[in-house]
Amino acid sequence: MEFLDLPQLLSACGTVRLPGSKSISNRVLLLAALSDGETEVRDLLASNDTERMLEALKMLGVGVQHLGGENWSIKGCGGLIPVKQAELFLGNAGTAFRPLTAALALAGGDYVLKGVARMHERPIGDLVDGLRQLGADITYLGNEGFPPLHLKPASIQPGGVVKVRGDVSSQFLTGLLMALPLTGETVVVEVVGELISKPYIEITLATMARFGVIVEREGWQRFTVRAGSRYVSPGTIFVEGDASSASYFLALGAIGGGPVRVEGVGRDSIQGDVRFAEALAKMGAQIEMGPNWMEARAPQSGLVAVDLDCNHIPDAAMTLATAALFAKGTTTLRNIASWRVKETDRIAAMATELRKLGAVVEEGEDYICVTPASLKPALIDTYDDHRMAMCFSLAAFGTPLRINDPKCVAKTFPDYFERFAKATTAAPVIAIDGPSASGKGTVAARIAAALGYDYLDSGALYRLTALAAQQAGVDWADETGVAAIAAGLDVEFSESDVRLSGTPVGDAIRTEEISAGASRVAALPAVREALLFRQRAFNKAPGLVGDGRDMGSVIFPRAVLKVFLTASAEARAERRYKQLIEKGLSANLADLLSDLRQRDERDSQRSVAPLRQEADAKLLDTTHLTIEQAVNQVLDWSREALQ
Ligand code: DC
Repeated sequence: MEFLDLPQLLSACGTVRLPGSKSISNRVLLLAALSDGETEVRDLLASNDTERMLEALKMLGVGVQHLGGENWSIKGCGGLIPVKQAELFLGNAGTAFRPLTAALALAGGDYVLKGVARMHERPIGDLVDGLRQLGADITYLGNEGFPPLHLKPASIQPGGVVKVRGDVSSQFLTGLLMALPLTGETVVVEVVGELISKPYIEITLATMARFGVIVEREGWQRFTVRAGSRYVSPGTIFVEGDASSASYFLALGAIGGGPVRVEGVGRDSIQGDVRFAEALAKMGAQIEMGPNWMEARAPQSGLVAVDLDCNHIPDAAMTLATAALFAKGTTTLRNIASWRVKETDRIAAMATELRKLGAVVEEGEDYICVTPASLKPALIDTYDDHRMAMCFSLAAFGTPLRINDPKCVAKTFPDYFERFAKATTAAPVIAIDGPSASGKGTVAARIAAALGYDYLDSGALYRLTALAAQQAGVDWADETGVAAIAAGLDVEFSESDVRLSGTPVGDAIRTEEISAGASRVAALPAVREALLFRQRAFNKAPGLVGDGRDMGSVIFPRAVLKVFLTASAEARAERRYKQLIEKGLSANLADLLSDLRQRDERDSQRSVAPLRQEADAKLLDTTHLTIEQAVNQVLDWSREALQ
């Protein structure tokens, strides 16, 4: 599985131009396809969900042309879908599946609509029931009430009243409303139960209006589409920036100082999720807004918890759940039952992953309560849910963490993590690599002390692995066995000591035997993999100095300073010899030199993460330098790099 390791963040600020709204993009595409005339769609979101819709429209014979960038031309079919028989694969795109089901069921034709496994677990029965009231012929090909579906030509009997449930997903009502002009007659839709996610219905009505169809509305209970309603192309239409995507960057500003400005949505937006800004303001964030932009800053006194009904911002509310990690008190998000039928069961997923970070979470059928705690590094699963990945990136303000399957953001925001990296500043790393006994450990520890940073002696992890394997009777050549030991190492680093399973190890990891063992286990790829996140989890505030062989090349490639610290083999052997004699241990200079050469050879010739000087690393040869001279040089470079 792919993953992305995030260092702890120190601050956020900048301006982000948002990608187009998913909800508006897919509505506009469908309505443009059903319209009379050609529509130029500008700023369309480029994402998996819109790709599924574009593919489906092409298969249905609609003229789709890419004009370059985010601009497309759609040749409307005037309500008559050209291809009458097709099998459509719609991935996990609810905003494509529901409206296409309604439109194709009423358009007349023989269609099979399928998606990924999760799509087949997302209910669609209420929409099908509504369409059947109009005479549509729809068969469930799998479980009753769920996709995949088979739609067959049927004689549609419009007129009268269609009842549809509104309390599971507003997308059923959206799909139905957008398809009704295809019947040519007056149809009244009555919503049964309380309509959830009302702002999404507002987007639907506003988009239909842009294409010339006015829906009459009595409260949120009755909607009427009049006979003779036809979609007509507005010519050119601009897709607003995605207000849900805006939520992550506004939250970054609110947590990480700011100001962070998003462009593409603002006060004049038709998307309900812009009201996320109000929720953030309730948490104490300073919000400013213009017609087409919003901006957030952190409050002086820190964020505070809120107790909020989130019916009006179901998607953006997820962002509040992770922002709650940085707010004083317990945040309660209510009326979020729709989370349970989204890309995943978002209440369960959110609770599980927040708990991994150390937060205290209470979940109910339609609510979640989050109480912050001091966060700890964790591996976060994302459940093929773009919003899980994006929400949890915020937790990096409290701890380094790993996001599994980060590319799931492609559903709505393919370059999210690049923009996220640009808008944030991470805790800095100074990477010092070099061969054994080059003095890098001493230099690194002193630099860390001088800067007030943490210190990572990565070699100690390989030494501890070799020692723990030896204690467990696992051969150093047994890659799987040693990797399991490395993954489960129970180590604690303190100022003065290293503890393995609670016992101080002292010099037991510094013997020549363990040095040789460390060098051998360090050559095993599975062992290096097992120790990767453990090392990256040291990348905390205020900063880190790490020493080893691959700090700058593999573990911390974004280090602000990379130093390659070396010395001649003879000088290094002599230093080691003096150390051992001072400790009262016996030593032989010739043997030490030959051991060291062997280890150099193994460390630099191995296939994974071999010791080498990175192109962007500064070389420091300490053969003729004192420790003080070496430390001063690296300190000068560090201060320069940190400016
Ligand atoms: O730095 P050291 O001598 O304590 O390292 C012990 C062994 O671990 C050494 O043979 C190389 C290996 N090592 C490594 O492969 N990668 C690191 N980042 C650190 C050490």
